[in-house]
Amino acid sequence: MAETILEVKNLKINFKTYAGTVQAVRGVNFTLEKGKTLAIVGESGSGKSVTSNALMKLIPQPPGIYADGQILFEGRDLVKYTEKEMTKVRGNEIAMIFQDPMTALNPTMKIGKQIMEVILKHKKGTTKDMAKKRAIELLDQVGIPYPEKRFGQYPHEFSGGMRQRVVIAIALAADPKLLIADEPTTALDVTIQAQIIELMKEIQRNSNTSIIFITHDLGVVANVADYVAVMYAGQIVEYGSVNEVFYNPKHPYTWGLLGSMPDLENKSDELLRTIPGSPPDLIHPPKGDAFAARNEFAMQIDYEQEPPMFEISPTHSAKTWLLHPDAPKIDVPEEVQKRIDGYLAKGENTDAE
Ligand SMILES: Nc1ncnc2c1ncn2[C@@H]1O[C@H](COP(=O)(O)OP(=O)(O)O)[C@@H](O)[C@H]1O
Ligand SMILES: [Mg+2]
Repeated sequence: MAETILEVKNLKINFKTYAGTVQAVRGVNFTLEKGKTLAIVGESGSGKSVTSNALMKLIPQPPGIYADGQILFEGRDLVKYTEKEMTKVRGNEIAMIFQDPMTALNPTMKIGKQIMEVILKHKKGTTKDMAKKRAIELLDQVGIPYPEKRFGQYPHEFSGGMRQRVVIAIALAADPKLLIADEPTTALDVTIQAQIIELMKEIQRNSNTSIIFITHDLGVVANVADYVAVMYAGQIVEYGSVNEVFYNPKHPYTWGLLGSMPDLENKSDELLRTIPGSPPDLIHPPKGDAFAARNEFAMQIDYEQEPPMFEISPTHSAKTWLLHPDAPKIDVPEEVQKRIDGYLAKGENTDAE
């Protein structure tokens, strides 16, 4: 058995608002092994960012509330950590990369100095010369050409893609055990996105860093992840190895996400499907299966009782009544299967084990 770095148990995050209590994360469970990458996917509003911010204890309280659950990082429950204790974890043992690189950079400080600061803060006994050498090494490692020259430049002198590389260099500067990337490529154009994904894969290969990669785009997941957690309305509705989720998806919401991946053959993509309907109100989550109203295969029970996570394999489970032994056997819709086949045929996942 691989070593576990993170175990999240029944995590619940609420926000108190004037309209009522928003149940943004409603009982999330997952385990991450050392050196592995978990992708968390789901539509906008499904609770991906709240989950990842919660792991870093970045939920503003108020209005946020850790309503229940544990975040066991190497066995220590971060939920119980004080802000002072968390400052030692954040950026040091766990680092985070956000969608907008500008928010993570100080516009008035040369980027080399920003990387050095992290090194000097987190690596005791490092001299300035050593930190500078390491900063240049990191810039090189994240694929920034002329790192010595770039060391002395300001954030505005970098393109969006290069800025995101700098942010990744800063995140790596402290040698974190866990790297959380919240839609790190969403603000970038497609070519740059692919390069950043490639960089993430390289980091994964060359270090033993565990990664949580958050995206609304299942298409990129096949490339980066070992495991996939599909989130809907604040819950994980399907969890499995990347192969299980792509070759044998079981939740109709996962089918919807797979079916709405851009068509690789047809760039204009008139056929792009979206999942009809919209996510439920998280102030008054529906009784039963939160996905029922959008599920073309919904049964009576979906409106009455919340489904459990049904186990498909030791690593694969899905929260849908369709997996109940008495439910009708329903296969992946044909159009969705075609879309999946298109992705798998591209062979983009060739370096998967
Ligand atoms: N500070 C907040 N106050 C109230 N509701 C919030 C707050 N932050 C997030 N939410 C709600 O939590 C839900 C999940 O949001 P989020 O995690 O950002 O979604 P995602 O990252 O998957 O797009 C959304 O319904 C969002 O409106
Ligand atoms: Mg988000």
